[in-house]
Amino acid sequence: MSEAVAERFEELYGTGPEGVWAAPGRVNLIGEHTDYNDGFVMPFALPHTAVAAVSRRTDGVLRLHSADVEGGVVELRLDDLTPGTDRNWTAYPAGVVWALREAGHPVTGADVHLASTVPTGAGLSSSAALEVVVALALDDLYELGLQRWQLARLCQRAENVYVGAPTGIMDQTASACCEDGHALFLDTRDLSQQQIPFDLAASGLRLLVVDTRVKHSHSEGEYGKRRAGCEKGAALLGVDALRDVPHGELDAALARLGDEEEVVRLVRHIVTENERVERVVALLRAGEIRAIGPVLVEGHASLRDDFRISCPELDLAVDTALAAGALGARMTGGGFGGSAIALVEAADVDTVTKALQEAFAAAGFTAPRLFEAVPAPGARRLNRASSSA
Ligand code: GLA
Repeated sequence: MSEAVAERFEELYGTGPEGVWAAPGRVNLIGEHTDYNDGFVMPFALPHTAVAAVSRRTDGVLRLHSADVEGGVVELRLDDLTPGTDRNWTAYPAGVVWALREAGHPVTGADVHLASTVPTGAGLSSSAALEVVVALALDDLYELGLQRWQLARLCQRAENVYVGAPTGIMDQTASACCEDGHALFLDTRDLSQQQIPFDLAASGLRLLVVDTRVKHSHSEGEYGKRRAGCEKGAALLGVDALRDVPHGELDAALARLGDEEEVVRLVRHIVTENERVERVVALLRAGEIRAIGPVLVEGHASLRDDFRISCPELDLAVDTALAAGALGARMTGGGFGGSAIALVEAADVDTVTKALQEAFAAAGFTAPRLFEAVPAPGARRLNRASSSA
C-alpha cells in the first residue's frame, strides 16, 4: 500500500513524499469505558491501518487529501486552525497539527495524503489511526523526539479539544504503542504498559470481529452522559476517579451511593470491569486463553445491563456467537453499534460465521461485516522513500 500512497502523493503535490507512515485501528479485548476513569484497558492493534505520505512545508500551510473521501486537496493555514470549527475528516489531522503547535513544537506546515483500511464508524478507532499516523510522521520529519505515549496524549488532546469528542486515551495509545502478537495491558492513570503475548493461532483459536455496520445516532451524547455519570460517582464517593474504588470495597461503596440508581450501575460496571481486565491478564499470563471466554461474556452483560450502551445488533451478535459455540463474546469500543468480538475455536469459525449471517438476515438487520483479527504492530514508518527512491 505504501507505494501506491506515495505515488498518489506525487500526483497530487508534484514531488514524492519525504516518507510514508502507518498507524493501526484497534480492537479492545476487555476494559470498556474504564479509560476516562483512570482504569485498565487491554486493546490490541488490527492489521488495518491508516497510511500517510507526508512532506514538510515551511510556509505555514497544511494541505490535506484523503483517498477515502470525495473531494480534492484541502488547504489550511496553520495560524487559522481553531478548535471546534471543523466538522469534517480534516479535523483529525488538522487537530494533531494544532495540538503539536499549541504544545510548542515547531511545525511549519505539511503536505499530507492519507489512505485507510480501518473500517469507519465500526468502533475500531479509525479516527485515532488518522491522528496517530499524522503525529508520528510529523514527529519523525520535524525530529521532535516525542515518546509514543506523548504522541498518544497529543492526539487525545486533538480529539477532545479540536474535534470536540470527550474520549479517553485508549484508542490513541493502542494505535501508537501496540506490538505485533501482543495485547497491550495499559494503566490509563499513568500510561504504564505491559505487552501481553496473545497468540491465538498457536492455541488453535480465532478472534472474530463482527462489525454490525450500525452506528446509532445518539452515541456521542450518550458517551458524554456516561462519562459525566462516572465523574459524579467519583465525586460522591470522594475519590479522584472510579479507579480508586477497590473491587473488594464495591458493595460498601454502592451502599454509600444509596438511591442514586443510575450512578450505582455505572460505578458497578467500572469497578467490576477493571477487575475483569486484571483477571484476563492473569489468565493470559498463565497461558489459559480459552478461560478468558466467560470473562468476556461477563463484560458484555455488564455493558448491556449496568452501563447500558449495547443495542439489539450487538446483543444479537454476542448471543448468536455464543449459541453457535464461541468461547466468549462481547461488544467492543464505545457502544450503540460498531463491533462485537467473539473468541472461537479455529474449527468452529465457519459455523459461527454462518450463524451470525443467518441471524442478522432473520432479524432484518444489515448484513454484518466479519473478519478475523490478529494482533498486529502499532504505528511505524513504512519507508523513507520519495517515489524516486
Ligand atoms: C471509545 C473512546 C475510548 C474508550 C472507548 C470505550 O473508543 O474513544 O477512549 O472510552 O470508547 O472503552
